[in-house]
Amino acid sequence: MISLKKIAILTSGGDSQGMNSAVRAVARTGLANGFEIFGIRKGYKGLINNDFIKLGSKEVSDILYRGGTFLQSARSAEFETPEGQAQAVENLKAKGIDYLVVIGGDGSYRGAQALERHGIKSFGLPGTIDNDIPLTDYTIGFDTTLNVVTDAVGNLRDTMSSHERVSVIEAMGRNCGDIALQAGIASGVDAILIPEIEPDIKQTAANIKERFERGKSHSIVIVAEGAGKAEDVAKQIKELTGLDTRPTVLGHIQRGGTPSAFDRVYSSRLGHKVIELIQQGVTGVGLGMENNKITYHSFEEIFNAKTEINEQLYHIFEDLV
Ligand code: F6P
Repeated sequence: MISLKKIAILTSGGDSQGMNSAVRAVARTGLANGFEIFGIRKGYKGLINNDFIKLGSKEVSDILYRGGTFLQSARSAEFETPEGQAQAVENLKAKGIDYLVVIGGDGSYRGAQALERHGIKSFGLPGTIDNDIPLTDYTIGFDTTLNVVTDAVGNLRDTMSSHERVSVIEAMGRNCGDIALQAGIASGVDAILIPEIEPDIKQTAANIKERFERGKSHSIVIVAEGAGKAEDVAKQIKELTGLDTRPTVLGHIQRGGTPSAFDRVYSSRLGHKVIELIQQGVTGVGLGMENNKITYHSFEEIFNAKTEINEQLYHIFEDLV
């Protein structure tokens, strides 16, 4: 009997909307091309604990439109140790896994690279809301999160306007300002504070005051978590303007919700491409999208590249505010 080649998939780090559709795409394309598919529950932690489940077509139905990750996720300190990695490799080998697909962010990619160095043929799919992985225009979940934040800003604008208040909204993104920047443009806020560009609170406060004097009934500032805390920024603006200024931390609301159509299509394209790369003999790469094409780069290339804020977008914001 010919034994089928085996692919295992895990989701790791902070979950993101679209991880499920990426798993579904790898599984369904793999099954259609004669592979046996396994899911590993709870990320690298589950890999160390041997928590594998077999995935057939039915196991991945009804997940395309669900946020979160049905395989669950975790951050594993144990996996960062040589012993943890040795155990992970042993488990993968014992199960006869030929290929491993890791869906996650920066830390998850480092794990995949470590396993590749131990002889496990690995792939990375960019699953994080932060949009902070180099050499891809988007990460899986970023678009959905933008929509969640844009909706939240709209809700806050309604009430801020009724009470002539200033709203300072803190968005996630770790050290990357993309969520704040793009949601800020999408919702027409008055100021965006991001870690990539030195914030000038005094100027921001002066602009807000001047707008109120011209008759505006509210003001919205969006601050990326990497640039500061909403509470501190709100306090400073209140002191500088005398205006009633309220902080709102959006928090984990940003990571939930049904994935946008963009994230579903994008993650489906990425998952599908993994099987194509396996068939071409390419492994040890992270996939992404550049200029609307699905592309891939070695983990090393990805780690050596820098994520850069889209300066053109920041200038567009400055011209439109
Ligand atoms: O990486 C995704 C992310 O949501 C970041 O934006 C945020 O800084 C972090 O994860 C929060 O992590 P946790 O859910 O473990 O608190």
